[in-house]
This record gives sequence, structure tokens and C-alpha cells, in this order.
Amino acid sequence: MTDAELMNAAQKARENSYSPYSHFRVGAALLTKSGKLYTGCNIENAAYPAGNCAERTAIFKAVSEGEREFEALAIVGGKEGETSEFCAPCGICRQVIAEFCQKDFKILLGNPKTFKAYTLEALLPLSFTDKDL
Ligand code: THU
Repeated sequence: MTDAELMNAAQKARENSYSPYSHFRVGAALLTKSGKLYTGCNIENAAYPAGNCAERTAIFKAVSEGEREFEALAIVGGKEGETSEFCAPCGICRQVIAEFCQKDFKILLGNPKTFKAYTLEALLPLSFTDKDL
């Protein structure tokens, strides 16, 4: 699967965003090393902290299905009714990514037409991981 195809999958996952409170819609697509695809969207809740980000939805879906080895993650987000431009993952999602992925893990940000690849190391330098325990 190409980076552009992964971005397209994230864009499609964004269509399922349940975000009646923030009206900010996010989709994520996670590619496993074995070539499987897991997607996710943000899922909000009337009790705000109970909501979940798109990235963690995708990661938790994959891990709960037995996946632990990941190749890349694409994230597409933006305000409802607007074309997604650029949505960086929140700090909690970066930490969850760091639990399962190496420093050189690829994270694609932007939209299917214009996107850029970042490493996990670039987005979460000096991270705290199991190696610190
Ligand atoms: N959100 C995500 O799903 N991923 C991000 O990377 C940033 C924020 C969601 C959480 C909440 O539902 C909405 O976007 C506004 O913060």
C-alpha cells in the first residue's frame, strides 16, 4: 500500500467521525507490517473526557486483534465541513504510538493530495518508554 493510499483510507475513516461537540472530524489509518489495515475515527461523548481520538481508535482496534507490529499511520483531520488540511496527533496519542512503534515509525500528516511523512522521533523526542522502567 502506498502512502497516498494510506492517506485516502484515513480520509475515508474520517467520514465515520462522531464529533457532535467539537465538530472536528479526524480519521486515521494504521498499516501493519503484515500489510493489514486498521482504521479509526474520533468518537466523542457527552461526558467529554470519555471521548477517544481517531489514532487511538485505530491502534486499539489493531492491538485488540492481536497486531503489534506497525509500518505507518496516516492522520487526516479538520473542522466539519472543511477540507482537512493538517492535523497533528495529540500528546496522548503520541505516547500510545510510542508504546508499540520504534523511533523511525512513519506518521503521515496532511490530506491525500498534500501530505508529509514524519518519524515518531520527530513528533515525540525524549519519549518515556518501557526502556526507562
Ligand atoms: N482529535 C483526534 O481524534 N485526533 C487528533 O490528532 C487531534 C484531536 C479529536 C479529539 C476530539 O474528538 C476532537 O478531535 C477535538 O479535539
